[in-house]
Amino acid sequence: MQVSSIAPRYDSIARSLHWLSALLIVINFVVGLTIDAPPKSFYPAYLNAHVLIGLAVLLLAAARLGWRARHPAPAAPPETGSLWRLAIRVGHGALYLLMFAVPLIGLAPLFTRGRGIDLGLFQIASPLARTKEWIGTTTEIHEIAAWALIALAAGHAAAALYHQYALKDGVLLRMMPEPRA
Ligand code: HEM
Ligand code: HEM
Repeated sequence: MQVSSIAPRYDSIARSLHWLSALLIVINFVVGLTIDAPPKSFYPAYLNAHVLIGLAVLLLAAARLGWRARHPAPAAPPETGSLWRLAIRVGHGALYLLMFAVPLIGLAPLFTRGRGIDLGLFQIASPLARTKEWIGTTTEIHEIAAWALIALAAGHAAAALYHQYALKDGVLLRMMPEPRA
């Protein structure tokens, strides 16, 4: 079925929040994986950038959910079966959950390092002193959660591309800007 430009779309705020958070998540995943790559003197600033981008993802996720509560998703194509509707809800729900969980879990490896957050105008000190024996485990849990988010997002993106280009049902357009009149 060809839906093309008549596909119902998410509104412009929902679309902007979606693409901005997707971009920041990917950037921050790369920053996390390369945290030790820059010279040692850059580590505190690089880690702080990672923390700030991650907290922006958290705020964006909250903004998205708040917006979504008042602006429901566009209706799914009528041919979508009830099992698929459920799978989509679960998948999107898990993405939202991980967008909250990954940054929140990130506080644990940060604080067990005894490091706070530098917000420019003021600092938030770590509530914990450096606790060496917890650093490894908390970092690992944060890393696993981050991989889960990226893996799920990759599956989600692959499904959107498959729908758009193999099934040609216009699903990707639901998250794309409206064509100019
Ligand atoms: C979208 C959000 C985020 C993603 C995708 C993400 C991803 C990652 C990844 C992949 C690593 C590397 C783990 C490893 O290889 O051991 C990492 C490390 C880390 N992340 Fe995050 N993170 C996010 C948000 C945050 C936030 C909000 C904080 C703090 C509040 C945080 C604190 C840390 C710390 C302290 C490390 C360990 C750095 C080190 O090894 O020296 N992250 N993160
Ligand atoms: C880290 C990356 C991403 C995350 C966390 C993410 C998350 C989400 C979430 C939570 C929704 C549901 C929105 C709602 O109903 O409130 C959604 C919808 C959507 N996303 Fe993503 N997304 C990501 C990347 C992508 C990419 C790369 C694509 C395209 C290649 C994409 C295409 C779509 C489409 C088409 C929808 C609408 C699906 C529908 O109407 O059923 N997303 N995304």
